[in-house]
Formats: sequence, C-alpha cells, structure tokens
Amino acid sequence: MAGINLRGVVKAYGKTQVIHGVDCTIADGEFLVIVGPSGCGKSTLLRMIAGLEIITDGEISIGDRVVNDLEPAERDIAMVFQNYALYPHMTVYNNMAYGLKIRGLAKADIDTRVRKAAEILALDDDLLRRTPRQLSGGQRQRVAMGRAIVRQPSAFLFDEPLSNLDAKLRVQMRLEIKKLQQNLGITSVYVTHDQVEAMTLGHRLMVLNGGVVEQIGAPIELYEHPATLFVAGFIGSPAMNLLPARIGDGGDRVELSGGDSLALPPGRFAAHAGQTVTAGLRPEHFEIVTDDQSVARLAVDVVEQLGADTLVHGHFGNDRGSLTVRLNGTQNLQARQVLPMSVRPELIHLFDADSGRRLES
Ligand SMILES: Nc1ncnc2c1ncn2[C@@H]1O[C@H](COP(=O)(O)OP(=O)(O)O)[C@@H](O)[C@H]1O
Ligand SMILES: [Mg+2]
Repeated sequence: MAGINLRGVVKAYGKTQVIHGVDCTIADGEFLVIVGPSGCGKSTLLRMIAGLEIITDGEISIGDRVVNDLEPAERDIAMVFQNYALYPHMTVYNNMAYGLKIRGLAKADIDTRVRKAAEILALDDDLLRRTPRQLSGGQRQRVAMGRAIVRQPSAFLFDEPLSNLDAKLRVQMRLEIKKLQQNLGITSVYVTHDQVEAMTLGHRLMVLNGGVVEQIGAPIELYEHPATLFVAGFIGSPAMNLLPARIGDGGDRVELSGGDSLALPPGRFAAHAGQTVTAGLRPEHFEIVTDDQSVARLAVDVVEQLGADTLVHGHFGNDRGSLTVRLNGTQNLQARQVLPMSVRPELIHLFDADSGRRLES
C-alpha cells in the first residue's frame, strides 16, 4: 500500500492547458474522490496518475517513488473504468486470471487470488464459469473490480465505474465499493461527476472546476463550509440557493435583493458592512417562522410533494429569481401563498460577489 502525492501537476494538449497545477496529498489507505462537471479534467488527472497520459509539468509520486517517467505497468496501480473492458470470449474466471498469467504467476497462486477476490465480491462458481455476455451490468462491474483486486495493487483508480448502471444498481454498487475499500484499506482515487456519489464514498473530496482545484476536504466540511461559490452550488441536493445581496450598514443583517433581510451572527461580518455579496441559503435550512425580526417572505410558485419532504419553489418579494425550499414531511401549501421564512444566522453562507470566495468571518 502507498499514498499518492501530486505536486504542481499540469497538463496541456498542444497549447491548451486543461489541468492548471494540482497539489494534493492522498494518504495511505485514503479514499479520495475527484468530483466536478463533465470536461473539468477529472479523467485527465486520473490518467496522469495511472501513467496513461504524460505530465506536462509537476511531479507525481506513489509511495516513495516519483513515477513521472514510469510506464503504467510499473506503477503498481489497478484501474477500473466505466466501460468494463472485459474480454468477451473468456470466462469470468479467466478474465480475472489473465493479467496474472501474463505476469507469469504460478497457476496455484493465481487460483488462490481469483478465488479470494470472487469470495469478496460474491461471485460464485456458476458465475465464474460464465462469459461476460451472460452477466448483468452489476455482475460485470464486479468482475471488473475483481480483476483489479487480484493484482493486489498499492492503489485503485476508478473512472466513473458506475455510470453505465441503472439508478438502483448504482446505489447498491456504491455501497459495495465503499465496503470493499473499507475492508481492503487500499488507497483509492475515484472520479465521478455525481456529487451524491462523491459525498457518500469519499473520505475527502477534491472539487475540480475547469482544471483548477476549488477545494479539498471531507464531505461535510465542503457542505458546511464551501470555500467558493462553485463548491457551494455543486455540493448539496437540491442545490444551495445563491441570491444577490448586500450586507447591511451595521454588518448584522444580509439584505436580499427582493427587499427582505435576514439576521447574521452578531459582530461576525462587521468588517464587511455595505459589501455586495452572494448569499447562500440551503433549501433544507429554511424554516417557517412567526418571529418578524428575521424573515423573508417566500411567494410560492410550485409545490412538489415527495412524501418524505416537500419542495417549495418560489421567490422573495419583487425579486424574480427563483429559489427552492425543502420542508420536512408533507406540507399542504398552495401556489401564490406567501410564507414567512427564516434561516438560522450561523447557517447563512456569504460569498464575495466578485471573487466568489467565502467571506472570512
Ligand atoms: N487527447 C486530448 N486532446 C485534446 N484535448 C483533450 C484530450 N483529452 C481531453 N481533452 C480535453 O481536456 C479537458 C478535460 O477532459 P477530461 O479529463 O476527459 O474531463 P472529465 O473527465 O472531467 O469529463 C476537456 O476540455 C477535453 O476536451
Ligand atoms: Mg471523464
């Protein structure tokens, strides 16, 4: 096993730079998820760790070896892709055994490793004899994982391994991967565009945007303290409401563009009085209040009842920008109703309107 170190990693295709200097230390046994929208550079970064792409600048080490100039096969990593790339004419057993045969392992060793991986992944003898065509999507995904496990690598690299599966199976396989990583304790880097997958799987997340790291941290850290507007809007579902606002002259209220205002923690933002900001209000942090000291009036446009909770889409005052509020349970609300809403001061996020960076408080 081994940790992975990225130092100033840059990638350019011709004159176009797509990764702009990534620094990250992934601890031995850690599960790091790289998450970001399509095209932000996730696969490129992962492929550079794997050795499938040349690094334009910077340094990557695995364990105590700098691997910049090592071939993929010399890096002691195993990669699992979105399209499982199984050999169609080979049995499941041979799909898992093949890489080991090529490396010249003894037949008995190969058998031990394949059987052990099969056991971990609940692939029984019947399945081991089948060819990939005779498997469900979830089983194929498990074989692809098995092929990685038998190599006993010092790190796993995953590139959107679940995106070909239907929603239900994706949730199930997500749990299996998490359990597997917990049990094997192998350093893993996992790429996905799905923030829910990222939140549930990772010990830490790297949020990547346009080839730049926006933030690295534990899932809850990113949820509670997003460092930038991008992270704020990306992490959490439904997404955080981001509203144009201004910090009041006393620094103790945030004035929303619709005309209402909410109380801020006393004294915390005094230095930012009068500043133009973007206020971040999570849908799940709104509550219906009677207190008229800190209230914004939500004009209801559309109500969605989901059973466990109710999503209310509406707008504040004369502001036409739409926002979403999530209330627990089933709420009988009507369009055009006006709800007095508030958010606890310590749950209000404030970002500089120009830089998009979280305001220090
Ligand atoms: N071989 C290539 N040549 C030129 N540009 C590429 C190549 N591979 C990827 N890119 C570009 O690099 C950027 C990042 O791509 P990629 O890492 O695949 O994104 P992601 O995996 O996050 O969707 C994209 O703008 C993509 O068009
Ligand atoms: Mg990709």
